[in-house]
Amino acid sequence: MKNLSLICTQCEKQYPIRRSHPRCDACGEPLAVEMIRGRINEGNSLTQTVFERYANFLPFATEDSTVSLGEGFTPLMESHTIARALGIRRLLFKNETQNPTWSFKDRGTVVALRHAMILGYNRIGTVSSGNMAVSVAAYGARAGLKTVTIVGGDIPSEKLNPIAVYNPVLIAVDGDYGDLYFRSLELGQQHDIYFMNSDVPFRVEGSKTIAFELCEQLEFTCPDYVIVPTSSGGNIRGILKGFEEFKLNGLIDTVPTMVCVQAQGCAPIHEAYRTGTGHVSRVPHPSTIAHAIENPFPPSGNEVLRKLREHGGIVTAVSDEEIIRAQGELAGEGIFGQPASAVSLAALKKLLRDNVVQEDASVVCIVTGSGLKYTAAFEKHRFSVVHTVPGELDRLVATRF
Ligand SMILES: Cc1ncc(COP(=O)(O)O)c(C=O)c1O
Ligand SMILES: [Zn+2]
Repeated sequence: MKNLSLICTQCEKQYPIRRSHPRCDACGEPLAVEMIRGRINEGNSLTQTVFERYANFLPFATEDSTVSLGEGFTPLMESHTIARALGIRRLLFKNETQNPTWSFKDRGTVVALRHAMILGYNRIGTVSSGNMAVSVAAYGARAGLKTVTIVGGDIPSEKLNPIAVYNPVLIAVDGDYGDLYFRSLELGQQHDIYFMNSDVPFRVEGSKTIAFELCEQLEFTCPDYVIVPTSSGGNIRGILKGFEEFKLNGLIDTVPTMVCVQAQGCAPIHEAYRTGTGHVSRVPHPSTIAHAIENPFPPSGNEVLRKLREHGGIVTAVSDEEIIRAQGELAGEGIFGQPASAVSLAALKKLLRDNVVQEDASVVCIVTGSGLKYTAAFEKHRFSVVHTVPGELDRLVATRF
């Protein structure tokens, strides 16, 4: 490991980098790796892993890509039709569905996994509503480690098998999903399991690579806004830290305005932002089509609020109806994101309507995970299929196009 510390995001108490417990003993808030100084490794990004390209910005002393599955380096796609329809100057989609297990989670998993292995763990685990469990199960299999994945008891069955295929210990627990996060950390300490949950410091370090890639893909200019679907808050923290580190090292001049977007049916960070309380409170009965962002008590919620206040960020929330509409519109550009990842586009439309974002802005929407992960959402769409017989084909094609 590099000579760095973990620092409490609230009280700034310092801890050794080799610590696996992700929260502060004094105040309970999340820890973060201190800001890293570095420069990009030159080389061929077609053959490099994120570990190699961004080695100087990651907390490891040596480059080692043994456990990589080829995560990161996802496309940044220019929007044509949606940008034109919204009248916005520039709209881009960072397509995280193209990661090895079809979501951004792989970036954080691979970094946390390396930390676990350096610390000598041979058992890893996570608590997840789906995407992170798939990711940790896949990387655990790749590394040959025993892996436990704990999911909520109400997880849709189509989300279970993509975890099970990697053969982890798979446990579904009824009850409050928000509590499982904290319960699993205790279990980890009791049973020597490295729990790489949603916002642990090394997962956050992995999410920084989204910002690094964005800067490189935009020739070291920054968009005005980056919109991030948010649940625990780990990913948006990592993306923001990535921009901050590039700025600290003189690679970019400004940090974009970060937009944290939640689903209205489970929006504790938005509620705290709206009411100005500064602390998230548990949502009693979360309910949204965007299951992947349905954490009723986000473990990094307070830190997201602190950071966005410091940087002038925005928090908003969108309805299930807006999410489903945005999912369809994204597909119209050729990108099939799951409902939780379509919230970024739904948020942009809302912010434009409310004049919070202006039409001359440049915006990146993070599309966090693939639509194939949750096909139950199809039921909310009205797709049309024309049924016919061979003899009618000619007439149909002639009249329908
Ligand atoms: C598809 C998708 N988008 C967004 C998120 C939210 O990320 P975070 O929990 O880091 O805020 C998740 C988290 O599970 C997710 O699976
Ligand atoms: Zn603290």
